[in-house]
Amino acid sequence: MFAMEAEIKGLIEQVDNFIIGYANSREKLINEAVADLVKAGGKRLRPILMILASKFGDYQSDKVTKIASGLELLHMATLVHDDIIDEGTMRRGELTVQKRFGKDVAVFVGDFLLTKSYNLFFEYLSRNSILKFNKTVKLICEGEAGQYQSKFDHDLSINGYLRHIRRKTALLFGFSTYVGAYESGLRNNNLFNLYNVGLEMGMSFQIRDDILDFIGEKEKVGKAIGQDLLAGVYTLPIVYLLQSNEAGVQVREILGKEFITQDDIFLISELIRKGQALDKSRQLEQRFLDRAKYHLKQLPENEAKQSLSYILGYQLNRKN
Ligand code: IPE
Ligand code: IPE
Ligand code: MG
Ligand code: MG
Repeated sequence: MFAMEAEIKGLIEQVDNFIIGYANSREKLINEAVADLVKAGGKRLRPILMILASKFGDYQSDKVTKIASGLELLHMATLVHDDIIDEGTMRRGELTVQKRFGKDVAVFVGDFLLTKSYNLFFEYLSRNSILKFNKTVKLICEGEAGQYQSKFDHDLSINGYLRHIRRKTALLFGFSTYVGAYESGLRNNNLFNLYNVGLEMGMSFQIRDDILDFIGEKEKVGKAIGQDLLAGVYTLPIVYLLQSNEAGVQVREILGKEFITQDDIFLISELIRKGQALDKSRQLEQRFLDRAKYHLKQLPENEAKQSLSYILGYQLNRKN
């Protein structure tokens, strides 16, 4: 249990309730899709990070709830659109918006959520944070575009991979802690360190997500397994596997096939597990977590710091 768990749960409930009311639309279809996404769960990590970061400064409850909701709405928008791009079938243990309502609906539900988050940010954020927010969204798009252009690239480097995940995932984590800190009045070192706690945690978070796509359990992850490979997105475990002497040739052969079967994915998962690819991926995940911990250590002692420390500690055993 971390110090503020009950309190955070309460705050997240407020965020969820606010979102359901706020993301209301005259169109039944949109309400249904949004309500499904909220009710299906999700870890609410970005709002939690934002709320905790804001506790280091002058905490204003109403403003924090609104900004935290904006972050979750933005995140949900990226998920809906990401599932179109990845042809994802399951999200948060339920059918994706695209799978349930079709691609057209998924496009405009994603856009709808995006405009809703923009509204909140324009109302509650300072100009500085709005500019940073826009830059973050631009970079998320560019991260997805970069990843798209590297699809099926057997020679993708570790650095190339890290560049993609920094933009598509880590920057939003960084923005979450940054905006919490900045909007509660923090500047200089505390702001810098909180931003980096989010950013580095985001890097390790995406690496874990990518590991789970190979070795996770569908029920826990709430998404289909092996999706990245099927979509031609080569993530860290595969990049390591392709670089290895023993398995590299065999893996290239499989990846070069016109159709990849479930058996192929199973075989590749086994190679990842048994060779060094899994260990190496975990080591890199750990390195980013250590960096996040280093930045956390520089911050003043308080309950929010303990909670952040708990959250960081939990990441390496994360199964969903
Ligand atoms: C999924 O994010 C997208 C990634 C960046 C891997 P989460 O794993 O935080 O998704 P939810 O919000 O818990 O469903
Ligand atoms: C998600 O990356 C990044 C964004 C949502 C922008 P993934 O494609 O790995 O996320 P999942 O696995 O579908 O949740
Ligand atoms: Mg995806
Ligand atoms: Mg994934």
